[in-house]
Amino acid sequence: VADDKILCIDDLRKEASKKLPTSVRDFYNSGSTDQITIHENTTAYAKYRVRPRVLVDVSKCDPSTFCLGRKVAFPLGVSPAGLQAMAHPDGEVATARACARKGINMGISSFANYTIEDIRSAGLAVGGIGHAIQLYTMKDRELELRIIRQAEAQGCTAVFLTADSPVLGVRYNEWRSDFRTPDGLGFPILEWDSETIRKQSHDDSFVGFNDDAHNWTRDIPWLRSATGMEIWIKGVLTAEDTLKAIEMGCDGIIVSNHGGRQLDGVPATIDALPECVEAANGRIRIHVDGGIRSGTDMFKALALGAEYCWVGRPAIWGLAYDGEKGVDLMLDTFYNEFKRCMQLTGCNSVKDITKACLGVVRPYGP
Ligand code: FNR
Repeated sequence: VADDKILCIDDLRKEASKKLPTSVRDFYNSGSTDQITIHENTTAYAKYRVRPRVLVDVSKCDPSTFCLGRKVAFPLGVSPAGLQAMAHPDGEVATARACARKGINMGISSFANYTIEDIRSAGLAVGGIGHAIQLYTMKDRELELRIIRQAEAQGCTAVFLTADSPVLGVRYNEWRSDFRTPDGLGFPILEWDSETIRKQSHDDSFVGFNDDAHNWTRDIPWLRSATGMEIWIKGVLTAEDTLKAIEMGCDGIIVSNHGGRQLDGVPATIDALPECVEAANGRIRIHVDGGIRSGTDMFKALALGAEYCWVGRPAIWGLAYDGEKGVDLMLDTFYNEFKRCMQLTGCNSVKDITKACLGVVRPYGP
C-alpha cells in the first residue's frame, strides 16, 4: 500500500485494521463493556476550540521539549502497550527504532514480546531514546525485582506503575473470541513462554500474577526502596489521587484510563485532566494518554496543562500497516500536525501553549 493513502491517524487505523485477523483487531481496537469511555476519549477533544494568535513570526517554531530527563523532538511518546509482535513480527523492537529515529520516548510494557535488552539496544543503535518500564503490582516480588534490575541495567529511567488494574476490565470481545496469544509469542519480561501463556485466557493469567491487594502505602514505599528510577503512577483520573501521588512522593502521574480498556464509564482523559492539573498546582508532573489522534489533540492536552502526551493504538496500527516504517509514518504524521498547529496558533515553543490557547464549546442548555 502506498504511503500517500495515509494522511492522518484515522487513515492509518482503517488500513491497518484491514490487515489484522478479526480477533486480533478486536483485541487491539476495542475498549471494555459498552465502549463508552474508549469512544469518548477521542470525541471529547471536539468540545475544545483552539484560540489562535495571528501575525506572529513562527518561522523558527520549535516543538522540542524535555521528558524523562532528556530532550525530545516533540511532546509525544509511545505508551506501554503489550503484544506488539502480534501486529508485526518486529514488534517493540521496531517501535523502539522508530521512536529513537524521531527522537522521542517509549514505554516498555511488562507484556512486551521482546526483552528489555532487545528493545533498549534496538533504540540505542538508532540514536538517543528514553525508556520507561511499565510495571504492575505483582504477587511475585522477586520477579518484579528482577524486572526492575534489568530495566536499571539497561538504562531505563522511569517506572510507570499501572495503578488502574487491580483486575482486568470487562472485555467481552476478548472473552467471546477466547482470545489467546498466538503460538510462538512469549512474554520474556514476565518470564512466560508461549506454551505457558496459551494454556490460560488473558483474564485468568492476569489474576494469577497481579496483586489486587495493591495500595499506595504498601506499594509506593516498596518501589521507592527498590529503585532509584523515577516513579510515575499510570491511570490517575481524579484530583484525590493526584494529591495522593504528591503525598507519596511520586515523580509524576499519567492521566490515563488505559485506553478505555479498564472500567468503562470513567471520563475521557482530556476531561479528567483539568481537575488533576488544578489539584497538582505545579507540585507534580502530569502526562496524559488515551484517544489522542492528531497534533491538534496534543496541542489541546498541553493547553489544558499536560506536559507530554502518549499514544498506544496508533503505534500498533503503524506496526500492523508497515512495521517500523508504519511507526515512522505515524510519528511523522503527529509531528507535522503538531508543529503546524503550533505555527497556526502563533506558538513558537511548547511553553507558549497555555490555557489562553483554548476555548470550550458550551454545552446545550435553555
Ligand atoms: C494497552 N495499554 C497497556 N497499559 C499498561 O499499563 N500495560 C499494558 O500492558 C498495556 N497493554 C495494552 C495493550 C493494548 C493492545 C492497548 C491498546 C493498550 C494501555 C496503553 O498503555 C495506553 O494507556 C493506551 O493505549 C492509550 O490509549 P490509546 O492511545 O490507545 O487510545
